Amino acid sequence: MIVARTIREVREKTAQWRRGGQSVGLVPTMGYLHEGHASLVDRARAACDKVVVSDFVNPTQFAPNEDLEAYPRDFERDCKLLEEHGCDMVFCPSVEEMYAPNAATYVEILDEMPKQLCGKTRPIHFRGVCTVVSKLFNIVQPDKAFFGQKDAQQLAVIRRMVRDMSYGIEIIGCPIVRESDGLAKSSRNTYLSAEERRAALVLSRAVFRGEEMFGSGVADSETVLAEMRSIISAEPLARIDYVSAVDGETMLPVDEITDGVLVAMAVYIGKTRLIDNFISGGPQ
Ligand code: PAF
Repeated sequence: MIVARTIREVREKTAQWRRGGQSVGLVPTMGYLHEGHASLVDRARAACDKVVVSDFVNPTQFAPNEDLEAYPRDFERDCKLLEEHGCDMVFCPSVEEMYAPNAATYVEILDEMPKQLCGKTRPIHFRGVCTVVSKLFNIVQPDKAFFGQKDAQQLAVIRRMVRDMSYGIEIIGCPIVRESDGLAKSSRNTYLSAEERRAALVLSRAVFRGEEMFGSGVADSETVLAEMRSIISAEPLARIDYVSAVDGETMLPVDEITDGVLVAMAVYIGKTRLIDNFISGGPQ
């Protein structure tokens, strides 16, 4: 596996691959990789000749009060996992390599969608995500890029950016990977104490109950959301940021849960903010 630290190295290698007629898949990550990331690499491995994984904790998507400094990092362990899953190149730039000291250009969707759900508590988050993903697309120039469905709003935002900016890149959404007890895999799970780890199960429990209600024909969103909220609120360590049913593209609230509606939540367990979701009827 090639370990590339500069934009130039990535450009030269991917250009060589493309000249040789090989397709390139990109899996953008912030490192501290787990089986959820591994599933994206596996999917890219199956769909593309060459797989590039970026491993970069992107400062522009964190507000000053967020966990940029504390965000877990273990590059050696990441490389081991990536090699095991057949990654061809990991791109791990420094902040200085990615952002010039006076960088002042952002990619931002000027619409309601990034302001909904996570955008309400993280107002600059999706601008940072779009900016860094757009830079990664320009650097790697992949044919396909792979993102997890756990970050459902992020996936919708990236799809919108790709459409609006005419990137010729296919965006592939991949299913949520869960621990055996249901908790969605996340690098932030590492922040949880043993007691919080147990309490965090209310997220998946609420997701499964919501899915079950939709499956048994309950379509009124408030009925489903009220039940999901009551499951979460019964846990003293949990504090709801949001539990919402929204249109899968616009992220605007819907009254009725029909196929393709995103039912998403963000919940604080202690100080750790976790997200989870389901798409009614499965991803479209
Ligand atoms: O989902 C993430 O890990 C990040 O938001 C991403 C897409 C790698 C951009 O920094």
